[in-house]
Amino acid sequence: MTLGEGRAPLAGKFIVLAVTGGIASYKSIDLARQLTLEGAEVQTVLTRSARAFVQPLPFQVLTGRTPIEKMFPVEGGDHPGDMPHISLTEKAHQVVLAPATANAVAKFARGDGDDFLSTLLLSAKAPVIVAPAMNPRMWSSPAVQENIRLLRSRGHIVIEPGVGRMARPEEGEGRGRLPENAEILAEIHKVLLPNPDLAGLRLLVSAGPTRERWDAVRYLSNRSSGKMGFAIAEAAAGRGAEVTLVSGPVSLSDPAGVKVFRVETAEEMRIAMLDAWRNADAAVMAAAVADYRPSAPLDEKKKKESGPAAIELERTADILAEMSESKGRRILVGFAAETGQLAENAMDKLRRKKLDFIVANLVSGEENAMGADASRAIIFDPSGSGEELPLQEKYLLSRKLLDRITKMWQKSS
Ligand code: CTP
Repeated sequence: MTLGEGRAPLAGKFIVLAVTGGIASYKSIDLARQLTLEGAEVQTVLTRSARAFVQPLPFQVLTGRTPIEKMFPVEGGDHPGDMPHISLTEKAHQVVLAPATANAVAKFARGDGDDFLSTLLLSAKAPVIVAPAMNPRMWSSPAVQENIRLLRSRGHIVIEPGVGRMARPEEGEGRGRLPENAEILAEIHKVLLPNPDLAGLRLLVSAGPTRERWDAVRYLSNRSSGKMGFAIAEAAAGRGAEVTLVSGPVSLSDPAGVKVFRVETAEEMRIAMLDAWRNADAAVMAAAVADYRPSAPLDEKKKKESGPAAIELERTADILAEMSESKGRRILVGFAAETGQLAENAMDKLRRKKLDFIVANLVSGEENAMGADASRAIIFDPSGSGEELPLQEKYLLSRKLLDRITKMWQKSS
């Protein structure tokens, strides 16, 4: 996307541009200008050391907003309200840290909260785009590299600095230059603008738990929240796929642009999935389907009796296994919720259910993926090789899964 086309691709987007202090700080003035020209609302944040290199006025003139410099709002100032860092990150579609000094990177990695910028970064919801700029020796130091790895493992996007002449000629060349504004803009576009790489794909997704009735008011279920399946459906629709989502009972609202069928039991989910599978190119079975249901559910509410009670259970159908019977060359992805022997159990499921890949999660201990906002996962493919995905928000995980599906789909079509 270039400027001068009379387009405003970032219209409606609110971007926080945080500027820290380095010789490259002046380049952020032009970045603020370009973002504004592309239609974005831009709020700049200047650290104390940024103020040693740049003045607030150019940012104010270009963006129409006074840069934020202080932790606490000034009485009668431009940023009333008691917690501007929280309200800003609530509103922001994207936070961009450019240039990011070694100090800013270290504070962000460590989770400091001692100035406006660090508290803002701590409360940021979406992945932050970080554009580092520093001396090459600092950039290659183990401490900075460790911090960069940490930020990336948390899902943040760190753009590799450029190679070039340093500010002072005697320092020669090396990696550490602020990435070009065009590169930073391209990253912003990648995150904020719809990428239609799944246009034409008919994707079926299942999500949430199922409920198996025991009596008039009680049921057997599990702790699945549906967040993973909903995140996949939403992200796929954003990438142009035609998405059908079959969900068990969850408290999430329908993702935009997705056809949603709400079901309750494993059997209802089976019927809805098999029906939609007839017209799908790929399916992701993220639901936590009950394996058992009470064999004789009661119409009345069961009265308590003295002594122990037992519920007789019978097996439900394995939906994924049934779908794999008519798989053909279509893409089929499963999840494996395990409390141990992750690799062995996941590979066994992948083979039995003829899957193209399986996403294995631990559902025990501190990192129980079920119901959580973030999870760690390993993706296994039929060759047995596993890709480890570090702990991250489910919407970030969903992007990685979709990248895999995109590759497979593009190869096959
Ligand atoms: N699955 C399904 N129908 C079921 C049970 C599971 O379609 N009745 C799907 C899940 O949605 C998931 C995959 O099969 O994609 C694996 O689910 P999981 O519960 O981990 O494994 P099971 O096959 O049920 O095996 P087990 O419970 O013995 O671990």
